[in-house]
Amino acid sequence: MIDDFVEQHRLLGNAVPRIINEHVAGLANRRVTPESTPADLEKLFDEPLPEKGIEIEEILARFRDDIAPNAMGVPSPRYFGQFNPTPLPIGVWADALASMLNQNAGAWRNGPTSAMIEARVIRWLCDLLNYGPESFGTLASGGSEANLIALKCARDNVAASIKDRGVRTAPGDLVIYASDQCHYSIDKSADILGLGREGVRKIPTDERFHIRVDALREAIAKDREAGLVPCCVVGVAGTTSSGVIDPLESLAAVARENECWYHVDAAYGGPLAFSPQHRDKLRGVELADSITFDPHKWMFVPFSCGATLVRDGGRVLRDAFDMTPEYLSEDRGGADVEFDFFRYGQMGTRRFNSLKLWMAINFMGREGYAKTVERQIDLTKYLAQEIDALKDFKRLGEVETAVCCFRFLPQADLSGPDLDRLQQRLQQIIERSGEAWLTTTVLHGRRALRVNINSFLTEQRHIDDLVRLLERSRRQLIEEY
Ligand SMILES: Cc1ncc(COP(=O)(O)O)c(C=O)c1O
Repeated sequence: MIDDFVEQHRLLGNAVPRIINEHVAGLANRRVTPESTPADLEKLFDEPLPEKGIEIEEILARFRDDIAPNAMGVPSPRYFGQFNPTPLPIGVWADALASMLNQNAGAWRNGPTSAMIEARVIRWLCDLLNYGPESFGTLASGGSEANLIALKCARDNVAASIKDRGVRTAPGDLVIYASDQCHYSIDKSADILGLGREGVRKIPTDERFHIRVDALREAIAKDREAGLVPCCVVGVAGTTSSGVIDPLESLAAVARENECWYHVDAAYGGPLAFSPQHRDKLRGVELADSITFDPHKWMFVPFSCGATLVRDGGRVLRDAFDMTPEYLSEDRGGADVEFDFFRYGQMGTRRFNSLKLWMAINFMGREGYAKTVERQIDLTKYLAQEIDALKDFKRLGEVETAVCCFRFLPQADLSGPDLDRLQQRLQQIIERSGEAWLTTTVLHGRRALRVNINSFLTEQRHIDDLVRLLERSRRQLIEEY
């Protein structure tokens, strides 16, 4: 048995690196978007459950021929889509090493090194953000889960009874405040936590898409008057649509005045803290009761890897999540219980996800991340300048991170909805070209184009190509209309 097992590893250990190396070597010249339709792919994989096992070589051939060529080119330097990075090679291979050990990082006894390394990377992220010595946290599957964990702490902070007896024991209907630019996981979390999606008060934003603190104050006062219970203020450091950072210090003050939990969703913007040049944009993040930080966004760690950090650390997370099932209840001398991560969040069995983060941080160092983040912001500013010079395009807001939003506004008498359709049409032309991928979003009610530079492989020439592509697409659209 063991010989066969070792042989399978040997075979895969020879073949898989070859596939990976071939794929990444062709990355720069391959289409970013595959041409296949859902129907094509459904047909390609429409096969019955295999009765007998298939040879490894044949399975790998399916990956090479059917899966990889039809994948979205997320690691491409010309992928300008959502906050999805080119993964660091060390992160890719760390995933294989983690799977090989198959540590269950949920409990120290099941994964001593994985628990220790998780504790270590959490410490590094806390230190990076100048979070206090008591701060602690837990890895999560991503920003959505990290926000859910944080908002569970916020909800339970209102009354000790809620965890066991539900939100009906709260002193009134609880309200979470976040800008109209917050990520949808805030609404989902409110639903899951029993507050309901209407329990999230969406606060309007200013012309650059930051939360309006005056409007927040007004909303809280109005809710109090109506007998509602303000529970949590959420600030966003790196909004999903435009990448901007809310006034984190002012939000901390409002939360404090109103005895609310203060959560900062820094899922995307957290890594600004690496850069001496940009760190100041996060001023006030350290005042948060909890922080979401997603290494699988701007730290180039392969999916999935998110984190919730909490200022008062393990105690708060344990109050919110700890349970001791009978099969884990025996006395083990105490010391290791502290590293049982199942006590700090909703996951039981969990992957050794900290390994890829630990390896990535060791590989890049503070300096490597600082330089990359700075270069990507500079490239985004360069793109913004180029767009300003392009005929018929209008930039929206300012570049604060590595996101640039803009609209195509041809000189024609078109209604708002027609213009919205034009943005989508332009996005489709680019998508179909396969030369790059960008997305659209909605900002202050109007559809806009959005570019995020999240690949450390992106250089100025890729931005120049993108600008040329925008210009070509503009001409094509004008001809169409
Ligand atoms: C600001 C913000 N928070 C949370 C999330 C959710 O992260 P995930 O997709 O990893 O769950 C995102 C995703 O883009 C985001 O932009």
